[in-house]
Amino acid sequence: MVSVLALLIFAWSGGGVAAADSMSEKWLSPAASASKKNPIAPTQASIAAGQKIYSKTCVMCHGKSGDADGPAVIELNIHPAKLSNPQLDTEPDGSLFWKITTGKKPMPAYGKRFSETDRWNLVNYIRTIPKH
Ligand code: HEC
Repeated sequence: MVSVLALLIFAWSGGGVAAADSMSEKWLSPAASASKKNPIAPTQASIAAGQKIYSKTCVMCHGKSGDADGPAVIELNIHPAKLSNPQLDTEPDGSLFWKITTGKKPMPAYGKRFSETDRWNLVNYIRTIPKH
């Protein structure tokens, strides 16, 4: 009886946390960060470098085509942003850069893990993901 109850509470709180995370208000970057200019031109080399990191680090959540259907999504019951969402085109590069740098649970902060250049490369790559 006790263990069943514990299980129920666990399941309930787990679901609750995930729902609260994804249902919370839209994730906005500070205006100063959003207006930061992208210093890295979206060259083939930059996009390729971004794609390399993306397929190693981001695919598990955001999915190969940016549809938020990576393997971790089902496992962790999370709801990553769709990077294939046309709405992304309305967000400045600086805003995406800030989000990659800062993270937001359950998305890790990548500010320490990847150099500035690599984070801009990621932004450049995300821009090439077909939107639909
Ligand atoms: C553990 C899962 C996870 C991983 C790994 C992950 N993300 Fe995310 N990401 C999320 C979630 C969840 C959100 C939505 C956060 C929110 O809005 O509450 C998000 C949001 C974003 C956004 C904001 C999109 C928007 O509409 O504003 C960007 C950009 C992004 N992620 C890029 C990346 C990149 C680049 C990587 C790899 C370096 C990455 N993410 C790795 C889970 C993840």
